[in-house]
Amino acid sequence: MGVFKWPLFFVFLWFKVQGFDGSCVVIPCSYNYPEPGKQITGRTGIWHTKTNDVIYHKDNNQIKQEFKGRTELVGDITQKNCSLKINPLRQSDRGPFYFRIELGGYNQYSYRNNEVSITFISAPQPTVSVKEEVVEGQTVSASCSVSHSCPSSPPEFTWTHSGEKRFQSQQLTDGQWKATSVLTFKATKADHNKRLSCTVRYKGGLMREQASNVLKVKCNVCALWSPVLPAWSILCFLTESYQAPRQRDMALIPLRLCTLNLDLLSSSSVWQTTRWAKSASHSL
Ligand SMILES: *[C@@H]1O[C@H](CO)[C@@H](O)[C@H](O)[C@H]1NC(C)=O
Repeated sequence: MGVFKWPLFFVFLWFKVQGFDGSCVVIPCSYNYPEPGKQITGRTGIWHTKTNDVIYHKDNNQIKQEFKGRTELVGDITQKNCSLKINPLRQSDRGPFYFRIELGGYNQYSYRNNEVSITFISAPQPTVSVKEEVVEGQTVSASCSVSHSCPSSPPEFTWTHSGEKRFQSQQLTDGQWKATSVLTFKATKADHNKRLSCTVRYKGGLMREQASNVLKVKCNVCALWSPVLPAWSILCFLTESYQAPRQRDMALIPLRLCTLNLDLLSSSSVWQTTRWAKSASHSL
C-alpha cells in the first residue's frame, strides 16, 4: 500500500443534494486515485452509509434490503465517475453516504472525509414567463422552467395553450438540473386577457401548476387618412380592443407607427378608410 497524498486522492461530490419524496436524485461524483504501477483486475465502486451498510454494489446480494433495486451507478467507473442515482427517493434516504473504491488485486479505499447528504424539499413551483404585450398575429414564445434532481426522467410539461413545444435541459451546479419547456404560437384575439398556464408533472407523480400574467393582445389597426385631400397617408394604431378606435379616441391612442413598416402593415388585422375631418363610422 503506497503513501497517499492529497490531492491525488480525492472524491469530488456535493455536500448536499436536494430531492423530494418519490422523485429521483443523481449524486454527481468523481474520484481520483493514484494509478497503481501494476495491473489491476477490476474496479468496483461501492456506496455505503456511516455504519457501512451497502447502498450500492454491483453484486446485488451485498446491498441492504431497503436499497435493493433503487440504486444505480450511472457514472462510468473506468472514467473515474462515481455518480449514483437513487430512484425512487424515500424520506429515509437522508445519508450521509460515502463512496468506496476497490481496485481488484491492489487496494481499496473509502472516502470517509467526503460525505453527501440529501435534503428534502417540497417539489418546486415552475416559473412562467411570457411577453405580456403582443400584437395579434405575432409569434409569442412562453417559457416554463423548473429545477429538478432527476436528469433521466425530467418533469413533463403541459400547457393550457396549444402550440409548438420545445424541451431544454441544463445542468446546474449542485446536483440540480433546470428543465424548460418553450411554447410558441401565434397570438389571436382569443388570447386577449387570458393567462397561459403550465403544469409540471414530476417523476413520482407530484404536480405543480403556475399561470403567467394576463396577455394583452393588441390589434393593429391601420387607417388611410386624409387630413387635406388628396394627400392620403397611412396611420397605424395598436389598440387593445377589437374595435377600431372611434374617431374622437384616435387622437388619444399613441401613434406607434407613422412610417410604412411593411411587416406591421401586412399583419394588420383591421383596415379602415377614414377621413379625419368627417368620418361617418369607425365601427367595424
Ligand atoms: C458522470 O456521469 C454522469 C451520468 O452519466 C454524467 O451526467 C456526468 O456528466 C459525468 N460527470 C463527469 C465529470 O464526466
